[in-house]
Amino acid sequence: MSQPRIVVTRRIPQPALDLLAEHGDVWLSPHDRPLTREELFDAVKGADAIVCLLHDQIDDEVLDAAGPRLKVIANVAVGYNNVDTEAIARRGTVWFTNTPAVLTEATADIAMALILMATRRLGEGERVIRSETPWVWSMFYMLGAGIQGKTLGIVGLGLIGQATARRAKAFGMEIIYSGRRQADPAIEQELGARYVSFDELLETADVVSLHCPLNAETKHLIDAARLQQMRSDAFLINTTRGPVVDEQALVDALKAGEIAGAGLDVFEEEPTVNPGLLELENAVLIPHLGSATIETRTAMGVLAATNAVAVLGGEEPPTPVVRVG
Ligand code: GLV
Repeated sequence: MSQPRIVVTRRIPQPALDLLAEHGDVWLSPHDRPLTREELFDAVKGADAIVCLLHDQIDDEVLDAAGPRLKVIANVAVGYNNVDTEAIARRGTVWFTNTPAVLTEATADIAMALILMATRRLGEGERVIRSETPWVWSMFYMLGAGIQGKTLGIVGLGLIGQATARRAKAFGMEIIYSGRRQADPAIEQELGARYVSFDELLETADVVSLHCPLNAETKHLIDAARLQQMRSDAFLINTTRGPVVDEQALVDALKAGEIAGAGLDVFEEEPTVNPGLLELENAVLIPHLGSATIETRTAMGVLAATNAVAVLGGEEPPTPVVRVG
């Protein structure tokens, strides 16, 4: 019997590739870049499994190109705005999986790091040193905003939101949160977190941190009007997906002093960054590093591979988003 054909659209950590190779013929993209659409169509032809990354647009065209043998698509990411899950569900024969939980702590570390960087002006400070700009310690030099006793507003208290809140609580912050549902009372109690409306969160938080997934409802959730609702001394942190924030509106708000600063790990048109942001000292900008640790990326790859091989072996995958049957 021929081995299942497993298509991996870009290199993932070796333990994940090894696991896949034990269960099928692996085709691995030779490129260290995202595949073009044409390359993707070619690559997936006759695939039983596709292991894809967040830059691969997975839709009806890709499903058609793959053909009838396709049984599973495993996204090596927790977010799956790159995937048309309805198109997959319509087929009724293809599982779709993501990689939740394994990147929670790494991403929350980055959210906390951005909170500290933005409030304490660390990017700006680093630029002073690196540009050899003259400086001297003084009582009033480059003062930031302390976070002890301040309020962190978490938008979306899922796993990453909770892990960020846990860190912020340890730094002495009060936690409020908004979202579609109120969290479990045990979680609220552990974090000392209070459920509030989105309006109240924006109007009262000293730091607003976004942790909701990107979908049709959350695209530009933070727009010009929402930025105006925020306090003028507040900071906006985004570690979810760029399009949750209207980037041009953010540039305008930062320039106009409508908010005090921003910390961004994600951008609307990655890897392009709005040029307006580059000019702003009060914007901390890092290149989508949320899950970028060796341990976390390995865990993500292995979880995606585990999902794919489970389906190929006729079993239910550990972290399904779209099920079959
Ligand atoms: C990373 O951004 C992810 O969604 O896993």
